[in-house]
Amino acid sequence: MTGQLSGKIVLITGAGGTLGHSHACLMAARGAQVIVQDIRADAATATVDAVRQSGGEASALVCDVADVPTLTELIQAEEARLGRIDVLVNNAGISGMTAAFEDIDEANFDRMFDIHFKGSFYAARAVIPGMKARRSGKIINISSARAGYGAIGGSHYDGAKGALIGLTRAWANEFGGFGITVNAVAPGLVPFDATRRRLGEDVLAKRAAATIAGRLIQPADVSALVAFLASHDADIINGQVYSMKQHDKPHAG
Ligand SMILES: NC(=O)c1ccc[n+]([C@@H]2O[C@H](COP(=O)([O-])OP(=O)(O)OC[C@H]3O[C@@H](n4cnc5c(N)ncnc54)[C@H](O)[C@@H]3O)[C@@H](O)[C@H]2O)c1
Repeated sequence: MTGQLSGKIVLITGAGGTLGHSHACLMAARGAQVIVQDIRADAATATVDAVRQSGGEASALVCDVADVPTLTELIQAEEARLGRIDVLVNNAGISGMTAAFEDIDEANFDRMFDIHFKGSFYAARAVIPGMKARRSGKIINISSARAGYGAIGGSHYDGAKGALIGLTRAWANEFGGFGITVNAVAPGLVPFDATRRRLGEDVLAKRAAATIAGRLIQPADVSALVAFLASHDADIINGQVYSMKQHDKPHAG
């Protein structure tokens, strides 16, 4: 396929999930060859199949992003096989785990930071040497709008997503001189099956009606921004955090 991402090799973590699947399909439709990483083999395969059925190119990479030695070895093997990795989208995550501050035990805390922060850090560690050598690369970290405003019961999730924003800015400075850009996308609520079950359709409909747009964010809205940041059109954009928080309708007066 040809398009805005023609010839790019893109690694997306958590690409078996709702948003990652959408990113993989859109980026492949725009010409990218996609490495679909996920901890769930069946989900990774489903995304690979969806990309191929639309005429795109994709392969699966199954591991836990928090298992650093395995993650590093598998990414390096993919890079050796394909010749390079041009774009990394750090998207793997766990959400919907609202918990009171007192109930967040150490295992819970570690898992949240291991997946979102450590996984993103070490996925980048695996691709940065090649990007530096080619003096070209793009990293997109998927944070959350909640990192910007915080939610009750979200100290572990919101904290980990906030840490990704600090990482984005540090890397933008550290790697910018090597032709590598690093940006973050911080989606607001994107309802998918688990969210629908957790919040219920009535709550979601009320939230949608309260927004200026009159609707909630869809996966394709987030994918469009991710695909843009991965493209040459965004070559000058570095160290930015794109919050997709939806604002409520303004009150008159
Ligand atoms: N959906 C939203 O409302 C929303 C809002 C803001 C941010 N986000 C973020 O967007 C990203 C994607 O979320 P989503 O909504 O598609 O959720 P999702 O649960 O559908 O997808 C997440 C994917 O990550 C994978 N994953 C989880 N742990 C992993 C691990 N240790 N190693 C590798 N893969 C792992 C899961 O298997 C899943 O396929 C996440 O980082 C999430 O925090 C989502």
